[in-house]
Amino acid sequence: MLEVKNLTFSVEDDKGRQNILNDLSLQIPTGKLVVITGPNGGGKTTLAKAIMGLIPVSGGQVLLDGQDITALSITERARLGIGYGFQQPPRFKGIRVRDLMDLAAGRKLNQGECCNYLTEVGLCAKDYLDREVDTGLSGGEVKRIEIASVLARRCGVMIFDEPEAGIDLWSFSRLTETFQDLHKNSDATLIIISHQERIIKLADEIVLVAEGKVQKKGPCQEMLPCILQDTVTTCSRITE
Ligand SMILES: Nc1ncnc2c1ncn2[C@@H]1O[C@H](COP(=O)(O)OP(=O)(O)O)[C@@H](O)[C@H]1O
Ligand SMILES: [Mg+2]
Repeated sequence: MLEVKNLTFSVEDDKGRQNILNDLSLQIPTGKLVVITGPNGGGKTTLAKAIMGLIPVSGGQVLLDGQDITALSITERARLGIGYGFQQPPRFKGIRVRDLMDLAAGRKLNQGECCNYLTEVGLCAKDYLDREVDTGLSGGEVKRIEIASVLARRCGVMIFDEPEAGIDLWSFSRLTETFQDLHKNSDATLIIISHQERIIKLADEIVLVAEGKVQKKGPCQEMLPCILQDTVTTCSRITE
């Protein structure tokens, strides 16, 4: 179980102190596929980064299987099996796709293994293995290579931040199937931040995050009608 307890992340700007995450609590049982959705700027990426240890939280705790990991570094959390696919993945000049995949897997992958991971995200593997993960790749290509590298790590908890961003329709279909298969055939906990109905429909539970808080959560069939209305106000009304 991944648990977030009373998480707060504050920043100081010209308007004063602002809570980007505002006493946010959430429990994600092991093996579930949870989709986090909600309006832009609601705090979803900040929550993902707080779970991965990429930002120092101002208050609250992150627990993995009962262990308080709030003070642990990114590397330590990665070792415990948490992986994060960035909303906007970094590029690495001088590193080839196959090197990145080996680094992610923690061992030298054979060509077949490497190709399988790339195929899972809709990339024609042999065209990419020796390409550098630099500005020569399009946004959608870098995004898919990033997702493939998270898959190659085989983490117990995988967080994907808007995996659909910049990805064409055909690759998106393939990616949706990959998430579905991964959920069916593994015990991994999948946390997918998404606005896409096809991904939302894969969820065991949908969590609506807005204004730094969980506004509503529940099973897919209960949440979907309200999500499709696409306004927090409607969702709040349904909750009351
Ligand atoms: N380090 C920061 N400093 C100032 N504002 C931030 C910082 N990080 C995030 N924000 C702001 O917090 C809000 C939530 O951001 P984010 O978590 O990226 O939202 P989402 O992923 O839901 O679209 C946004 O308004 C964003 O501009
Ligand atoms: Mg985001």
